[in-house]
Formats: sequence, structure tokens, C-alpha cells
Amino acid sequence: MTGLFISFEGVDGVGKTTQVERLRDYLEAAGREVVVTREPGGTALGGSLRQLLLREPGDAAEADGADIAPRAEALIFAADRAQHVAEIIRPALEAGQPVLCDRYTDSTLAYQGHGRGLDTEYLHRLNQAATGGLQPDLTLLLDLPVRCGLMRAGERNRQEGLVVSEGRFDSESLDFHERVRQGYRVLAEDEPERFAIVDASQPPEDVVLQCRSAVESHLRQRGRGLEWFCVQG
Ligand code: TYD
Repeated sequence: MTGLFISFEGVDGVGKTTQVERLRDYLEAAGREVVVTREPGGTALGGSLRQLLLREPGDAAEADGADIAPRAEALIFAADRAQHVAEIIRPALEAGQPVLCDRYTDSTLAYQGHGRGLDTEYLHRLNQAATGGLQPDLTLLLDLPVRCGLMRAGERNRQEGLVVSEGRFDSESLDFHERVRQGYRVLAEDEPERFAIVDASQPPEDVVLQCRSAVESHLRQRGRGLEWFCVQG
């Protein structure tokens, strides 16, 4: 596959969305159309699964007060991912397009594995089955103390006028989010060649520069420069 596949990861409220958009603008300025997508919910099927998972207003689980068991939760994220890879990510990469993905397989390992305590070997196999083994070329891990992230997420909810918490994980304990953060760090230590850790506690403009520099250094390692993004012919 010729495209470049970059995933963004981190605890809630770390500022991924802004960074995905800024990196897209930067890469598109170099001349190539970039596919920006996210999990859960990058496809139509994923949108329905996202409603179930995050209990957004109006969804059935919210109305029924249904509780999703941890294994069922992991399988729903996997179903979302399988559809997402088949419908969006793989075709884009095969067409040579760069793909920026807000959350991917590492979210399952961090949240369902380190956060919920499901067996990580099982989750690796689940990820493998959902993606057919498709791994990001580069994963930008936006790292931030948990309290900071949750405060930012709360602030964002208030600004957007959301009275209720927006997600399934907002009500989880500080301890849960701390395990997720530490889980991400373990994943990054296990695969240092794929991960770049970005210090997201810095001002947003500084975080933008850290992300750019991680991408440029990844491209250099692949023997390419930013000019690779320029449309050929
Ligand atoms: P979202 O509103 O997209 O949050 P964020 O902007 O932080 O990405 O909600 C996604 C939530 O789903 C987030 O709390 C992380 C969680 N999640 C998992 O637990 N496992 C997964 O595999 C994925 C993709 C997300």
C-alpha cells in the first residue's frame, strides 16, 4: 500500500481533533488530498454503533438504561473498526492517499485492556481480526495528565452547550483514566518505532509543531521528504 496511515491517540480531552485538523491543513498545503476519519463512527454503520457505545442523547441504550458488558463493548468497537477499515481506510491507502485517523486499535488496548481490564492478548487478536493486520505507519500519542484532559473535555462540553456528559467514559473514575494513560505509555514503549509521544500539555501551537516534526522524521526514515505529498504529474 502506498498511502501514509497516521493514527492519533490519547486520553479524553487531550486535543486530538484540533491536532488532526491542523496536520491535515499542513499536509494538504503540500499538495495532496488527505482523508480524515475517526473511531468510533467513521462510517454510516459506525455512526449507529457510536450512538450505542457513547449513549448519545436519544439512543436506545440510554433510554433503556442498558448496560453493555466489557466484552460486548470491545466487540462493538471491533465491528466499527472492521467496517471502517473495509469502507474507508484500506481503499484510501490503496489509492495512495494519506489517512489521518482519530483513534484506532490502540484505543481498544488502552481503554478496554488497561482501563477495563480485559486480556490484552485477546484484544490484540480482536484487533487483528477486525483490521486484517492493518497497522498505522505512525501513531501520535498525545500525552497529558488525566486531570488536565478531563477538565478540558468538561470545558468543551460546556462551551458546546452539552448539559449531560458526552460519552460513555466521562463518568469513569480518575483511576480508570489514569490506567488508560499508563496503558498508552506501555504500548508506546513496546513499539517505539511506530509511536511518537507528543507532550500535549504544551500550548496548542507547540503541539502542532511537535506533530509535524514527528511526521517529517517518520517520512525521512522512509527515505521521503514532505515533497512526497506533492501530486505527481
Ligand atoms: P469521543 O467522543 O470520540 O472522544 P474523543 O474525542 O476523546 O476521541 O469518544 C470516543 C470514546 O470511546 C473515548 O472515550 C475512547 C473510547 N474508545 C474505546 O474505549 N475503545 C476504542 O476502541 C475506541 C476507538 C474508542
